[in-house]
Amino acid sequence: TDKVDGYALWFSNTEVATAATHPTGFYLEGKSDTRAIITAELQDGLSNLFGTEIKRQRKVSKGILLLITPQDKLAANYLKSGELDKLEEDGFLLKKENGMMVIAANTEIGLLYGTFHYLRLLRTGEQFPVRLEERPKFDRRILNHWDNLDRTVERGYAGRSLWQWDELPSKVDERYQEYAKANASVGINGTVLNNVNANPMILSEEYLIKVKSLADVFRPYGLKVYLSINFSSPAQLGGLPTSDPLDEQVIEWWQQKVAAIYKEIPDFGGFLVKANSEGLPGPQDFGRTHAEGANMLADALAPYHGIVMWRAFVYNPTEEDRAKQAYNEFLPLDGQFRKNVIVQVKNGPVDFQPREPFSPLFGRMQNTTLMPELQVTQEYLGFSNHLVYLGTLFKEFLDADTYAKGRNTPVSSISDGTVFKDSITAIAGVANIGSDPNWCGHHFAQSNWYAYGRLAWNHQLPAHKIAAEWLKQTFTTDQQFVNAMSRVMMESREATVNYMTPLGLHHLMGWGHHYGPEPWCAVPGARPDWMPSYYHKADINGIGFNRSSTGSNATAQYFDPLKSMYDNPQLCPEEYLLWFHHLPWDYTLHNGKTLWTELCYRYSEGVDQVKVFQDVWRTMKGKVDEQRYQEVESKLETQLKEASWWRDACLLYFQTFSQQPIPSELARPV
Ligand code: GCU
Repeated sequence: TDKVDGYALWFSNTEVATAATHPTGFYLEGKSDTRAIITAELQDGLSNLFGTEIKRQRKVSKGILLLITPQDKLAANYLKSGELDKLEEDGFLLKKENGMMVIAANTEIGLLYGTFHYLRLLRTGEQFPVRLEERPKFDRRILNHWDNLDRTVERGYAGRSLWQWDELPSKVDERYQEYAKANASVGINGTVLNNVNANPMILSEEYLIKVKSLADVFRPYGLKVYLSINFSSPAQLGGLPTSDPLDEQVIEWWQQKVAAIYKEIPDFGGFLVKANSEGLPGPQDFGRTHAEGANMLADALAPYHGIVMWRAFVYNPTEEDRAKQAYNEFLPLDGQFRKNVIVQVKNGPVDFQPREPFSPLFGRMQNTTLMPELQVTQEYLGFSNHLVYLGTLFKEFLDADTYAKGRNTPVSSISDGTVFKDSITAIAGVANIGSDPNWCGHHFAQSNWYAYGRLAWNHQLPAHKIAAEWLKQTFTTDQQFVNAMSRVMMESREATVNYMTPLGLHHLMGWGHHYGPEPWCAVPGARPDWMPSYYHKADINGIGFNRSSTGSNATAQYFDPLKSMYDNPQLCPEEYLLWFHHLPWDYTLHNGKTLWTELCYRYSEGVDQVKVFQDVWRTMKGKVDEQRYQEVESKLETQLKEASWWRDACLLYFQTFSQQPIPSELARPV
């Protein structure tokens, strides 16, 4: 790979850290792959940051940075008993003591995380803290790659898959290590290598050897490998007459397959399963339930401490509102899943829209462990062409109050084990990474990988803090730059909601590709629930999906007071108005404007916001390298063109129903 600007991700900024005191050297005893990584990171990182060579020392002395775990020989001298008890496996402690800076952790991986945290502090202009303890909120912080074995990537907009299956295992690309490092630096500790629409071949001996070679590269970075499996693998790959999860031969086939995997990869994480969803096979093909299917796999994995992540992304073209279906199908199974099964639920009840309310399964399914699935790749948010920072979207979801146990039971505390004391806690993000020189297509799309990792570690971090952190490490610590660009990032998702799907509209994207606007789309013979009109329901009387008690009654899936708020258009937050209600074009909003006029304003505002982003970026010329400056500038031009396209297409189409003019003070479609 050509190492262009942007290849180094959030390690790109090599400005010298002048504010902080630099250690005279660092001390870390012992040898291991992980310790070698820590050594290299510190040696390079510190030497670059301070502009002077800082090396690993043979002795502990004042002024040094000391890295230590309880297993180390010197532990008794520098750690008090019980001092690290609360840190568990992945946490770390930073403290200043006896004239030294100390990074302590229970494990080597904890030390690695502590190291990256220290380097992040330096790179963002912070000092070594007097005392700081960090422990991740979710135990498993996982990326889901939707990568196919032919190296195409489902909903991937950054080139081909990183995994060069044809070369593995004999040639191991150096990029795998960079990938593992980037993940470790933000605390991501798991990766599902292949698409949820899984090819059974991934479990063949031929591929397992390749998977093993990746797992070997990732291991010292604390990154575990998981695989998506196809539920009919016993038949398709194993040649059995059935894949019925209660069939003896099928059970045995999975047991043997799992044993073969663990023989190669002793720390294998487990399976991700998309079953009976969008045409994929599953236990229902044999008259079995999701629970029966998941439990059979869970039993095969249990002896090795593996887990099953069973997806709840299910819906069918029936009379029932798509937004209600996952809840209807999974709630009756609550309590039936094994301890090592975790049900993976997308943030919203439909599908990764620019804005959705949270999925009501969070909080309702109280006897099953749930994990959120976020989408880092911008399937419905302009691909890698639009600058859309998702830190705000992720936070809105994690902070959303479910009211499951009264006020203040947000999705985050439902899924991180605080409320229901789950034995596994996990979170997944669908990756936006590919083999493009800058990994993610858009330079700013890297911030979404970064933000996902940081929030998986600590969902309490504010989105603006993450944005600023990322900007400083990726471009420059110049205050003017950081202030202006973090404002752009913080506003960017709202701008996209405005120019694509304001006021609770959703799924207006073209059928299949999900890129540009196609609210009029009608494909003969295609599934009605894949057509935009299913969602916007625009007609002469108004627009929006009536999910209130007079409609599909999806509102009843939420706890009160949300249920009654969402049910009443007067009380429903306006950002979800047309998600829950079908309202007349002249319906009056809180600001006194009619629904039609407000739609016109929102669409226009979205376009204006992008213009501002462009103006702000132009003032950054010279503050960042020319290559990235130009590339972002050109993407912003595309974004502006397409924001106008969205506005014009949607307003002109909806106008055929509203039959009202676009207010004359707004820019008119040409
Ligand atoms: C969306 C997406 C598909 C994907 C599916 C899933 O529908 O468009 O490409 O396979 O989600 O999450 O399983």
